[in-house]
Amino acid sequence: MPSDAAIYVAFEGGEGSGKSTQAKRVVEHLGALLTREPGGTPLGAGIRELVLHGDEPVDPWAEAMLMAADRAHHLSTLVEPTLASGRSVVSDRSAFSSLAYQGAGRGLGVEAVREVNDRAIRGRWPDAVILLDLDPDQRGHRLNRSLDRLEREADEFHRLVRSAFLDLAAADPDRWLVLDATRGRGELTAEILGFVDERRSALA
Ligand code: TMP
Repeated sequence: MPSDAAIYVAFEGGEGSGKSTQAKRVVEHLGALLTREPGGTPLGAGIRELVLHGDEPVDPWAEAMLMAADRAHHLSTLVEPTLASGRSVVSDRSAFSSLAYQGAGRGLGVEAVREVNDRAIRGRWPDAVILLDLDPDQRGHRLNRSLDRLEREADEFHRLVRSAFLDLAAADPDRWLVLDATRGRGELTAEILGFVDERRSALA
């Protein structure tokens, strides 16, 4: 792979961590495609609406499977073709969100959810993951819009999610960059771009 090889970057973290802002900066830096999970495709937009904004309570495994269905379609119809064309991809969330939210938060088990997702994405996990870590107690004032079904969960749920993300990152330090989301935006961007460039050269 040449040094300007296409890279698959994902942003993870709790809601209100500023990941969408930072994702846009990486997109500009790489000339990448910006996408998100759930909802990066027309089918995914329907799934996103059903899972995040439906009135009916959703069974946890149904929730995990719907996220995985969104992801399988997203990977094969958008992410992989884009990477194959030589263009990088930056995604606001990835399969790692399912490990944290459904595996840990919903209590389905991180390994069980990993297995399902590994099949859904046929082993194509992001090359670089940036975790914008935020204490759930601090997210209140950062969320200034209406909340989705997951965002409305209790603080304990969000603490489990956070700690699962930190565990995933600690287990795979080459792939993950963990940053304190309360730091200044410019400072965060500089570190993120440095990490992405390093990962990209390592993949080459
Ligand atoms: P977002 O608005 O930050 O994109 O997040 C969408 C919501 O969906 C957020 O509450 C986290 C949740 N989510 C999961 O529970 N599992 C997943 O696999 C993904 C991708 C998101």
